[in-house]
Amino acid sequence: MLRGLVTQQGQARRYEARLLRAGNPALWTLLTVGRTLGPITRLPRLGWVVTDPVISRRILNDPSFSMVGEGGVGDLWGQLFGAEFASFFSGARHAELRSLARDMFTEDSARQLVDRVQGPHHARLRARLAAGEVVDLAAVVRVTSAYTVADLLGVAVADDDAALALFASAERLAALALGTQASTALAPEVIAKAGGLVDAITGDVERAYRSGGPDTLLGRCRDLDLGLDLAKGLTTLLVIAGTETGASSLTRTVALLHDTGQQHRLLADPELTGNAVREGLRVTTPAPVIGRHIARDTEVAGRMLRRDGRVMMLTYVADNKAGPFDVTRAYVPDTRQLWFGAGRHLCLGAAVARVQLTRLLETLTADGRPWQVVSRVPARRVLVPTYESLRLRTVAG
Ligand code: HEM
Repeated sequence: MLRGLVTQQGQARRYEARLLRAGNPALWTLLTVGRTLGPITRLPRLGWVVTDPVISRRILNDPSFSMVGEGGVGDLWGQLFGAEFASFFSGARHAELRSLARDMFTEDSARQLVDRVQGPHHARLRARLAAGEVVDLAAVVRVTSAYTVADLLGVAVADDDAALALFASAERLAALALGTQASTALAPEVIAKAGGLVDAITGDVERAYRSGGPDTLLGRCRDLDLGLDLAKGLTTLLVIAGTETGASSLTRTVALLHDTGQQHRLLADPELTGNAVREGLRVTTPAPVIGRHIARDTEVAGRMLRRDGRVMMLTYVADNKAGPFDVTRAYVPDTRQLWFGAGRHLCLGAAVARVQLTRLLETLTADGRPWQVVSRVPARRVLVPTYESLRLRTVAG
């Protein structure tokens, strides 16, 4: 029995490892090395690397470490949308933007959003599985993630093909950031390629900016008089932030429940759904690395981090220190919810991500039948490791 459980955990780990390596080999190497490092280490070329959850949170809560400047993701956005857009990532403008949208991201709003936008898709998924169909869950969640973010923004997505196209443009745009581990400076040809993808993502923004109501993010951008260009930047940011990470957590959690055999515990006790959601997010940590620019000399855990350097929090390594996927694991206080970051930039869509994973698991377990993974293909060369396809069906229990 114990041997069987250990083998299932080993199998689940191998599938996850394959997924990470296929998505981004350099990231995979960094995370593998990271597992052997101490809590905070300085590496040649890369700068400071942190693998400890408490130290990671300490840095993410400290304004001496910035998203803007070499090493921070704001640096990438500044190169695409200009210095004014980069200013959204820090200080008063950042706080102003977050408060613009706060009420749209509460637990209640997230529940309403997910039930309204994703509910019909979940009902269809349940019916297809009940009819014995093999369903590609990766395709389903690409569609639901894209519709959800489009709804928040107020941009129109005509049909499922358009939703898939939106997701694909976001995935390709994010993939342009592959290889920015050593430097966040983008080559001119990368910036040109990004321009085409931004156009594809923001095709409906002008209409939505001019006519969107106050219940849409773009309508609120207009009321703040942000201007069309900055609104396009924010749209691109939200589409990137809200689609791939969510989709990755959805398919990988369902695969983990299958591979570890723990779907049977969940089927037997639906009260474990909250734990399964938290464990899925912890073990998959879809944003596996968070980078920051060091804006001023700061001592952290006895080490002096010098101004203008960079620091990478290997959140995937930090989150996984608590152990393998386990639906009976209690909340881990050291980790908290580091998979959503921490501090000023804590994921705005955290409630949406949690609710959509909850609803998906409720859908899969509703008929009390376990699922079987028929085939799987990891996505290649993507910023967020994920399944390109995860085909499953439900079977008699
Ligand atoms: C499982 C799914 C998700 C994960 C793991 C995740 C993870 C993260 C992380 C780690 C950050 C902080 C990045 C940093 O500090 O550099 C972040 C920020 C953000 N996320 Fe998420 N995210 C998820 C889903 C979503 C969704 C569904 C949305 C929107 C609908 C969203 C919107 C955002 C936004 C707007 C930010 C920027 C917040 C700021 O800078 O103030 N995320 N996310």
